Amino acid sequence: MDMQVIEEMKTFLNFGAQDIANLRALGPVMEPHQQQITDTFYDVLGQHGPTAKLIEGRVDQLKRTHAKWFADLFAGEYGQPYFEGRWRIGQAHVRIGLDPFWVEGVMSLIRTMAATAIAANSADPKDVAQKYASLCKLLDLDLLVINLAYQDDRLARLTDFTGMKRALIENIIRLPKK
Ligand code: HEM
Repeated sequence: MDMQVIEEMKTFLNFGAQDIANLRALGPVMEPHQQQITDTFYDVLGQHGPTAKLIEGRVDQLKRTHAKWFADLFAGEYGQPYFEGRWRIGQAHVRIGLDPFWVEGVMSLIRTMAATAIAANSADPKDVAQKYASLCKLLDLDLLVINLAYQDDRLARLTDFTGMKRALIENIIRLPKK
């Protein structure tokens, strides 16, 4: 995992102390909504053929790992161990052959449900907007790491299959179009 890219993206998003404080404060706000969010997440995955077949027979166990993923969002620790954990989650999805756009799609669902939960807890629109913004930044960083795991796997596959060096493949990708 390329921690440099993640640090650069944290800077780009201006993800800092205020976001960490906001996310910690969201922990007790979001905890009562976790079960319903997780249940909806797997209900939706269960309603679509390509995702349903991957979770069939293991939803209870997946709900437990999902609850841990969710709790970590609000634990206030977003250094290398956090992102290494997220990278491993990305690799788990790569391994099962899941197309990455499903992850993008279901992350949108998380954002939507989180917005409703945060808004239900506060009558102050500024407070809601600021806390939601911090959560969105972190969800986007999570998604970035998962997408980097997909990208890494695709480059590794091309390298293995063609025998070409990875740097050469990366250069080909960057060649201007004719
Ligand atoms: C926001 C997006 C997602 C999050 C946060 C998430 C979270 C997780 C977590 C934390 C794990 C456990 C990884 C581990 O074993 O270390 C996992 C595994 C898994 N997820 Fe997801 N997931 C997401 C999207 C999806 C989607 C779209 C599917 C579609 C079917 C899916 C299906 C699975 C399956 C089948 C596993 C088990 C992988 C294995 O056999 O090792 N996930 N997910």
